[in-house]
Amino acid sequence: MSKHVLRLCSLVMITLIACATLGLGQEPRPVPLPPPETSGGRPLMQVLKDRQSSRDFSSQKLVPQMLSNLLWAAFGVNRPDSGKRTAASAMNWQEIDIYVATQDGLYIYDAKANALNPVLGQDVRGATGTQSFVKEAAADLVFVADLAKTGRAGGEEQALYTAADTGLIAQNVYLFCASEGLSVVVRGSVDRPALAKVMKLRPNQKIILAQTVGYPKK
Ligand SMILES: Cc1cc2nc3c(=O)[nH]c(=O)nc-3n(C[C@H](O)[C@H](O)[C@H](O)COP(=O)(O)O)c2cc1C
Repeated sequence: MSKHVLRLCSLVMITLIACATLGLGQEPRPVPLPPPETSGGRPLMQVLKDRQSSRDFSSQKLVPQMLSNLLWAAFGVNRPDSGKRTAASAMNWQEIDIYVATQDGLYIYDAKANALNPVLGQDVRGATGTQSFVKEAAADLVFVADLAKTGRAGGEEQALYTAADTGLIAQNVYLFCASEGLSVVVRGSVDRPALAKVMKLRPNQKIILAQTVGYPKK
């Protein structure tokens, strides 16, 4: 073997080892969430009494168990036999995806697998809204309608139902937060074209609303 070929082989080997070590060329793996705690919480009537919007957030992260419970309450699978969810959806489309923007990156909630699928490895919280607290709070949820799942619904019906379905999920989040003493506000003030670009959405994905969740400032 010539010197030239030997050098080439060692270069290839070094590159392969570097890629394996750094995890390059591999799909980012789903991040499993702890099983949701589906018992407990405060009584419903007290929670309704306390439900409110708050724009006062600390930067403290949500621990994985809290994030799992929050997402399950929002739109988790509550009837595994049928795959149905904690919020109703028109024609059982289940067309709303919850994207979760945290300090660590952007994820999409996979309700069936109870996991977060990585979408972007960067902090995009600041792009999820026009208000200053969005970049500091623990999590910004972005509700995205997958229009491919809305059957043959036309423009007006599609817009109405995707908005209604998002509202039901957002209210679940409000109630969960009221139960847990978390701050929360649902937001329509979102630069949708800019955020869709940042999130690398497909043309048939539509941002409906965002919702910020986090611990209140002490
Ligand atoms: C569809 C929708 C869009 C909203 N958009 C915003 C928003 O962009 N920014 C914000 O701070 N609050 C937003 N809110 C929260 C409302 O301002 C809030 O719900 C209202 O003032 C009543 O307060 P409460 O939630 O404490 O009852 C929105 C609420 C809804 C339902």
